[in-house]
Order: sequence, then C-alpha cells, then structure tokens
Amino acid sequence: MKKRVFLLSMLLMPLVALATEVASPNGNIKVKFYLDGGGRPMYEMSYKGQPVVLPSYLGLELAKDKHASKGMNETDLMEHFQMKKEETKEFDETWQPVWGETRDIRNHYVEYAATLLQQRERREMVIRFRVYDDGIGLRYEFPQQQELNYFLIKEEHTEFAMTGDHTAWWLPGDYDTQEQETQECRLSEIRGRMKEAVNWGNSSVAVFSETGVQTSLQMKSQDGLYINIHEAACADYATMHLELVDAQTRHLTTQLGGGSNAYTPAPKPSPYPLPKPFTFVSHLTPDATGLKGCMQTPCHTPWRTVMVSDDARDMLASNLILNLNEPCALDDVSWIHPTKYCGVWWEMIVGKSSWNYTDEFPSIRLDNIDWQKVKPNGRHAANNAKVKRYIDFAAKNGLDEVLVEGWNVGWEDWANMWKRDVFDFVTAYPDFDLKMLNDYAHSKGVKLLMHHETSSSTQNYERHIKEAYALMNKYGYDAVKTGYVGDIIPRGDHHYSQSMNNHYLYVVKEAAKHHIMVNAHEATRPTGLCRTYPNLVGNESARGTEYEAFGGRRPDHTCILPFTRLQGGPMDYTPGIFETKLSTWSNNTSWARITIAGSLALYLTMYSPLQMAADLPENYEKFDDAFQFIRDVACDWDESIYLEAEPADYITVARKAKGTPNWFVGGKCDENGHETVLTLDFLDKGRKYACTIYADAPDAHYETNPKAYTITKKTVKAGQKLKLKEAPGGGFAISLIAL
Ligand code: NOJ
Ligand code: CA
Repeated sequence: MKKRVFLLSMLLMPLVALATEVASPNGNIKVKFYLDGGGRPMYEMSYKGQPVVLPSYLGLELAKDKHASKGMNETDLMEHFQMKKEETKEFDETWQPVWGETRDIRNHYVEYAATLLQQRERREMVIRFRVYDDGIGLRYEFPQQQELNYFLIKEEHTEFAMTGDHTAWWLPGDYDTQEQETQECRLSEIRGRMKEAVNWGNSSVAVFSETGVQTSLQMKSQDGLYINIHEAACADYATMHLELVDAQTRHLTTQLGGGSNAYTPAPKPSPYPLPKPFTFVSHLTPDATGLKGCMQTPCHTPWRTVMVSDDARDMLASNLILNLNEPCALDDVSWIHPTKYCGVWWEMIVGKSSWNYTDEFPSIRLDNIDWQKVKPNGRHAANNAKVKRYIDFAAKNGLDEVLVEGWNVGWEDWANMWKRDVFDFVTAYPDFDLKMLNDYAHSKGVKLLMHHETSSSTQNYERHIKEAYALMNKYGYDAVKTGYVGDIIPRGDHHYSQSMNNHYLYVVKEAAKHHIMVNAHEATRPTGLCRTYPNLVGNESARGTEYEAFGGRRPDHTCILPFTRLQGGPMDYTPGIFETKLSTWSNNTSWARITIAGSLALYLTMYSPLQMAADLPENYEKFDDAFQFIRDVACDWDESIYLEAEPADYITVARKAKGTPNWFVGGKCDENGHETVLTLDFLDKGRKYACTIYADAPDAHYETNPKAYTITKKTVKAGQKLKLKEAPGGGFAISLIAL
C-alpha cells in the first residue's frame, strides 16, 4: 500500500528527498509524494506502470496587497515546507444514492495525508490524497492554528504535468460561461485554436487566456490512455480552470488579458518558475476584486481529480467525483424523486411565443405598473388555456411535471440591463392563475415546475427567496428551475467565483428546507455536490438543446458531454426534439442536428434523474409511436453498463430501471454513424423480454432525413444478439420489458 522509494531525479536536487508511494486498492494507480530541495510539495501519478502525471508542484500563492488586512497571513503556502507527519489508511464502504445510475456505489480507496510544516512561519498545511483504482483526488487542508486563521488566495498552483501532446476535448477557460462548442485537438494546438473557440455569442463572457481551458477536461494519450481532470466538492471556493503551459508560454500569467468582460482584473506575473510544456496549472475564478479565495481556518480546498484508464468506458462508469463528496446531509429525502417533465418552454425558444406579457413599454419598474391595465401582446405563452393544454398532455402521457416559464412579471426587460430588481418571483401575470392551474394539475396527478430566472441579480434572488419558496410550498410546487443569464449583479463578480459558488449552494440548502428540488441553469459546473444535497437534481452548465435553435450544435456534442460535463453531475440537457426544422426568434431557419432515434437515445446516454420531453406536444402527437419510448423510459436505475464508448464518436449503455427487472439500452453516435452487435448477456437468465427497438431507418441522416425511423418488436432472452445500425447523427433506443 505505502512504501518509501528513493527517487533518481532527486539525485540532482540540493537535498535528497524520500518519496512516499501510495498504491490504489488493486495496485493499478500509484501516487508518489515528496518535497523538493526547496521544500516545495510535489507528486507524480502512474497507471499500470505508465506515467500519467509527471512530477508536478503543489501550493498556494497568497495575496499580499491592500486586501490583506492586519493579522492576515501573506506568506505563500508554496515552499520551505518540511514533513511533520504522514498517515495512510484504507477505506471501503458501499453507499446508496438517493437517485443515480446504480443502486450501490462502492467507495474504496487508500488515503495518504502529509502534514507539512513551514518552520519559520509556524504554519501547517495538510495535503491529502485518495487513491482509487480509477483515479485520484488530492486537496489542501488548513487546520485551525495560531499562525493561520485568515488568508486570501491570489492563485492556487496545482500542477498536472502531462506526459505528451495528448488529444483534448476542451472548452475555452471562461469565468462566466461554459456553453461553448467543445474543441478537439492536440494540447500543442490549443493556443492556435483559441481565437476560433471564443468566437461565439453569449450574454456573459470572460475569457482569461490563450491557453486556459475548463474542467472536466477529457484527454487521450497517443498510447491510448484516457485521462480526465476535474474537481470534486467545490464548496466555499472558486471554480478551477486549467492554464496550459505550452511551448510559447514565457511567463505564466503576464499575457493573460482582461477578457471581454471589462471588470476582469488582469493578473500579475507569478514569481514562481515556469513548469514544463504540457503542464496544466490551476487557475481559479476571481471575484469582483480580483481575489480568488477568502479563507478562514479550519478549511480545505475542493478535491483536484485525475481519472485514468485504458478503457474509455471506465471514464463514464467512474464514481470518483461522487465518492469524493460528503455523504447526504439531509435527514429526510422522501420528497426527492426522479422526474420526467414537459414545458411551456420550447415554443419560446423557437420564437413561436414570448416570455413577456406586453410590448407596450420601453422599460418597466415592478413597483410602478398595474398589470391589469397593461395591453397584452397576444403572444404570451404562460396563459391559463395553454398551460392547461400542457397539463393535459403531461397527464395523458405519464409525465410528472410541467415547467412554465414566463409566468411571473418582469420579463419585459429581464436580461442584460444591469437591473437589480428584475423579478420578485411571486407576482404572476394577469393571464396566469397560480391557484387554479396548480389545482388543475394536481387533480390530474401532475405538478407544475417552478421557474426562477434571476438574470444573475443574485442579491435580488436572495432577498426574495424565502417568500418565493413559501409561495411554492403554498401551491404545491416541489421543484424549481433557476437561471443565471447575463453578467453577475452586483457588477464585477463572475459566475464561478467563490461568492457565486456560495450563492448556488445557499439556494440548494434553502430549497432543501422547503422540500424543493433544484435544477440550476448557467450556474457553475457541478462537482458531485448532489451526493451531499440530492435535491440538486440537475444543472445545465453546458451547451444544451436550446442551441439547436440558436444556430445548431455539432452532432458529436452529446458523445462528448458524458465524458466532460456529466462527470460532476447530471445535466438538464432537455432532449427529445422530434421536429428538427426550427424557426427561431431571430427569424433564421435553424435545425436540430439529430435524428429522432438519436433523440430517444439521449434519455439513456445522457444520464439524469430529471428528463425533459422538450418538444411541442403537437410534434409528439405527429410521431406518437416513437414518443412511446419517452413514455416508457425510466430515469432512475439499479444498474448501468457502458457497453461501448469513445469520446466524440459513440456511446452505448444498458440500464436496469430501479426496482424492476426491465432494461433500456441506448446508443448515440456522431456524424459518421455507427454499427454495433449488442449481446443481451445482461438480461436475467431464463426470462423472456418484450423488446422494442427504435432505430434509424436505413436511409436516415441527421441532415437530409432525420425523421426516418423504424420500430421493431420481438421477444428476446439473455444471450441473444441484436444487430444495430446508427445513422450519421443518429442512434437507437431499446426497451426490454420482462414478461
Ligand atoms: C437560459 C436557459 O438555459 C433557458 O432554458 C431558459 O429558458 C432561459 N435562460 C430563460 O430563463
Ligand atoms: Ca443556458
């Protein structure tokens, strides 16, 4: 498990250091930890004897400027450390998530903690590793102590030195958005690609570097190792980006600009030497003052994670991120449930109707308008008659909830106006009868799903939140979709700063008190906090289906997201678009780059306990036989088996519906199509299953013939084989119902 090894590389250093080596339970992953001659902490990581992370430094640089008031620590936590204590232990438990891809999750690791002492400053810092069979987590811990109580982080310098010019699937590092199209290229090509990668439109953008990327970052080495860097349990801390040190980098931070957000402070050069090429260095999201963390001991950073395997399927099956989070903090979870929903939503996204009620005024003030006297624009979607139609549709098709956006006053000038009092979250437009609609929904066994767009006016939301959630309790809502469109108000802060991460978690905790499930859009990318707060049932935090109506997204997009964005938790991707021709609000003709069979596959390949049937009811009525799959498919599972996977190419997964003998299988591919022979060896032996296969028709194609599908029914048993062909941009979905 743990041994002391003498490092050859250390011979060259002024002081000879002993490294501690820690192996994962099956020995596949090994981590070495040591201090270099200057007392700087370093680690290395290998997989089956192959290096994954080359010697990499660890440490934190503290702010030494006007922000650091008297009594604060200013000396960096980077060097002059000596080893005070080392502890190693093995941990093995199996826990049951409230909802998830599997009923049981094994959490088995070897933990190593080094307590390091800075003698002169009389300060201690612990670096803790958890070494799993599929990856590692490491974090910094700061015990409460006389000489380290409060400190401000200028930058965290956690390095991940890669072994070569890996292929990477990456998003440009950005303090405010993660809705870009993924780039695929070698590490050495990232700088050259950046201009193209950041050339897109979003209401809040703050790019900080020519080689900065986001996590979760999926890579593949030239010799076939899949490596993924992310973080787990990011709470009371800023979201981490990764700064790539490439051949051109001279000074780590000097060339970092202010981004397109004028309030992004330009970082100053780091005093520490430049790492070797192909090294990623952590880059935290700053707050409005440019600081990256305000800390009070005892405290710790999130876990920095590196997953590795020679089999891409392991990247998708890994529970590393969830395991590194704290167990469930809620005593009663009986009110949390997987949810299938439809919504008064897509028709606004495609421009058929509006969120706002009136076009009468150039701007509005919530406290100075009599809504009863306002002239309606005739396009307002969230009206009584329409919402009732959606409730009827949900009831008829076994959907649990109906999202209604645009129900509350304020949508007339809601976005990007730097307006603080943009919504009050309790006042409905005159044509939306809160009580009647909720009563009507409940009488049909359906619930309404609340919508709180905050326009990123976070103080406004926090001010109204208790009243807003009390209103939800009064009328029987049990889930809210929140949104953070536009730059953060108060100005200067960023979507992924420590203060904003605290806001998102505050909302989740406050919601839990009211027994409300949360689905946050545009909030920070998830890091597995849903284990601790399972009422966080969804996040967007990536390019969702809405982009099909904003010009489209690439067909391989959904074969990448499970490797990247979904590592930290489920995504409210809002799948299920059947009518792929879309006429958008900008009067451009947009179209969804997916076949109908491919849309069905997403209910399996994009795991989420919250699944939307996003298209319009009339489009589902046109393809009712295909819609049967959405009616049938589960969204909570006892078992999940990834059968095939390759980033940006294809994913095939079989899942067993919770508490049933029934299985569902989905396969999704990129623009090249995919063929597969599925062996049904996961079915119960000796049992027969009614099998329905929803497949692309032979001539289907996401571009030219997206709505061509076949439905085949047969009886099957364990061990049988099914030959399946996925069209370019297509996929398949299968239900296997035990007879
Ligand atoms: C962006 C969200 O992703 C989308 O789903 C929502 O409809 C709009 N914001 C308005 O809140
Ligand atoms: Ca969005």
